[in-house]
Amino acid sequence: ITDPLVLFMPSGKRGRFPVGTPILDAARSLGVYVESVCGGRATCGRCQVEVQQGNFAKHKIVSSNDHISPKGAKEERYERVRGLADGRRLSCSSMILGDLVIDVPQDTVINAQTIRKAATDRVIERNAAVQLCYVEVDEPDMHKPLGDLDRLKVALEKDWGWKDLLVSPHLIPRIQKILRTRLPNQPELSEGKWGVTAVVHRDMDSSRPFIIDLFPGLKNEAYGIACDIGSTTIAMHLVSLLSGRIAASSGTSNPQIRFGEDLMSRVSYVMMNPDGRGAMTQAVREAVNGLIGKVCKEGNVDRHDIFDCVFVGNPIMHHLFLGIDPTELGQAPFALAVSGALQYWAHEIDIDVNRGARLYLLPCIAGHVGADAAGATLSEGPYRQDSMMLLVDVGTNAEIVLGNRDRVVAASSPTGPAFEGAEISSGQRAAPGAIERVRIDPETLEPKYRVIGSELWSDEPGFEEAVQVTGVTGICGSAIIEVVAEMYLSGIISEDGVIDGAMAGKSPRIIQNGRTFSYLLRDGEPRLTVTQNDVRAIQLAKAALYAGVKLLMEKQGVDHVDTIRFAGAFGSFIDPKYAMVLGLIPDCDLAEVKAVGNAAGTGALMALLNRNHRREIEQAVNRIEKIETALEPHFQQIFISAMALPNKIDPFPKLAS
Ligand code: FES
Repeated sequence: ITDPLVLFMPSGKRGRFPVGTPILDAARSLGVYVESVCGGRATCGRCQVEVQQGNFAKHKIVSSNDHISPKGAKEERYERVRGLADGRRLSCSSMILGDLVIDVPQDTVINAQTIRKAATDRVIERNAAVQLCYVEVDEPDMHKPLGDLDRLKVALEKDWGWKDLLVSPHLIPRIQKILRTRLPNQPELSEGKWGVTAVVHRDMDSSRPFIIDLFPGLKNEAYGIACDIGSTTIAMHLVSLLSGRIAASSGTSNPQIRFGEDLMSRVSYVMMNPDGRGAMTQAVREAVNGLIGKVCKEGNVDRHDIFDCVFVGNPIMHHLFLGIDPTELGQAPFALAVSGALQYWAHEIDIDVNRGARLYLLPCIAGHVGADAAGATLSEGPYRQDSMMLLVDVGTNAEIVLGNRDRVVAASSPTGPAFEGAEISSGQRAAPGAIERVRIDPETLEPKYRVIGSELWSDEPGFEEAVQVTGVTGICGSAIIEVVAEMYLSGIISEDGVIDGAMAGKSPRIIQNGRTFSYLLRDGEPRLTVTQNDVRAIQLAKAALYAGVKLLMEKQGVDHVDTIRFAGAFGSFIDPKYAMVLGLIPDCDLAEVKAVGNAAGTGALMALLNRNHRREIEQAVNRIEKIETALEPHFQQIFISAMALPNKIDPFPKLAS
C-alpha cells in the first residue's frame, strides 16, 4: 500500500507521507514554509492551513476532510480560547490519514491597494529571515552548572534544531531577568521549566543564526519594514513577518530636497559644503525614523517589535543613507563605494527599531543603476522569463533593464527632470490641481483636460466648481507627454517637433512669441501654455530614454521587445499609447505595456518576506551586464535620430495598428 499523497498549494509541492505524519512536518520536509512559533504546542496558532475538498483529477488526488485527523484536545483548547476560522486547522496538531490538498494561506497579496495600477496581484511566499521560537528552558540545577544562556541554547537546539547560535551582546545582561519573568496567560509549563520566545535571525553574513532578542512567555508577533528611499519620496511598508500581512504603508517627502531638487545638485552640495554629507545623511535617517513612527502608529505596532529592515534606493540615496560620500558618483567613471548587498545592525545606521534588528540593502547594479533598480528587477523578474522584457524607471535618470532568462543588460540614461514637470514652463510635480490628462480636437485644436483631484473634463458642466479648491495649477509629467503627443497628432507640431506657425491662422490657441510659437492650453489664472522650449525639453528627455533602450536592444541583438514595465510614480500615470506616440519606448503590443507602481518597494518587500529572494537578486545582479551609455560612441547617433516624433529610424507598426 502506498503512503498518502499530500499536495501543498499555492507552491504545488507534493510528497507521500506515512499515515499519522503531522501536516506541519510534511510541509517542512518538502520545504513548504509554514510558520510556527510555539514549536507545535498548539498555542501560537501560526501554523494554520486549510484542507481543499474535492476530486483533483489533474493531480490524481481526492482530498477530503476525512483524510485529516479530527481535532484533538490541544487543538480544541486553542479553538476555545483563541478561536479558529471555519475550515482552518492547526497543522502541527493534525495528522495525515489519506490523500490531501492543503492550502497554506498567504496573507501578502500585493494588490492594487498597495501599489497603484499593479500589473498583477501577486503572492509572496514567506520565508522571513526572522523566526520566533518558543522554548521551555530547564530551570537551573546545582548539579549541572550550565549557564542560563547555555541552557536556552540547548533548548533551542533540541526543539528547533538551531546549532552554533550566536547572541547579540546587548542581550546578554538581560537574559537572566527575562528567563525568570512570569506573564499571565502564557502556555502551561512543564515542571521545572521556564517559557521564553527567542527571536532568531538566520540571514547573517556569518551564516550562523543569531539570537537578537528574547521575550518572556509566548511572543506571537514580529514585524519588518521594507523601504524605498527615492530622491523625492521615501516609501515604506510595515509587515508582519509571521503572516506577511501589510500592517501599514506610507510615504514622506525626502527632506534632502532642501539641499537640492535633483540628485546631481545634492552631489554638488556635498562637494561644496564640508558638512554637506553629514547633514544629508542625518536628514534622510531622521525622515526614515519619522516614517517608521508613522507606519507603526497606523498599524498599531510598537517600533521595538520591528526586527528586520530592507532598504532600496538609487546609488546616491543608498550612499547618503549609509553615510558614504557620493562625490565619485557625480563624475566618470561613476564609481560606487560598494555595489554588493550589505548587512548592518539597524542601530549602526541610527534606525530606531528593536536594538537587535538587522538591516539589509539590496545590491546596486551600476553607478547610476541602483538598489532601487535591483528591487524593481527582483519584483518584475526579467531574468525569470522567456520573453524579452524592458523595465524602465523614469526619474531624472532613467534606469533601464532589458533581458530574459538568457541574458540581462542594464544602463541608465540622462533624461533630465523634464518628465517630472521640471524645466517645463507650466510644469509641476504631480499634486492636486495639476493637469494630468489632455485631449486636443484635431479639427478645432481646442483642448480639454482633467486635473488631479477631479473626475471631470474641463469641457464638462461643473468642472470649474469641482476644481475651485485646488485650482488648476500646472501640468504634471504625464500630461506633458500627452499634450505634446496630442499636439503632434493634431498637426500642431511637425515630426521635428516644431510648433507650426501656419496654424496660428487656424486657431487662436497658437500664439507667437518672437520667433517661435506656443500652444495655449488654459486661458485663465494661471495661464498655461506649452512653448517651443517645452517641446524641445520633452524631445531631449524622450530621445535620451529611447537611445538608452535602443542601445540595450542592440546589445541584445533584438529589434523589438515583448513586454514593457514602467516602474515608479511617473510610470503609474503615463498612458502607454502616448508614450509610444512620442517614441519614449520602442514599438510593442500596447496590451503588454504595463505600469507596475513602486516596483522597487515591492522588491524590497519580497526580500524582507523571503530571504531566498535576497540570494536570488544578488545572483541576478552579478549576472547583469552593465552598459555605460557615455562610453558608447553610437549613443549620440541614436539620440539624434530619436529626437524626431516618434522617431526617424525605427518603425512603430504596433502603433499604426
Ligand atoms: Fe503553534 Fe501549531 S505551531 S499552533
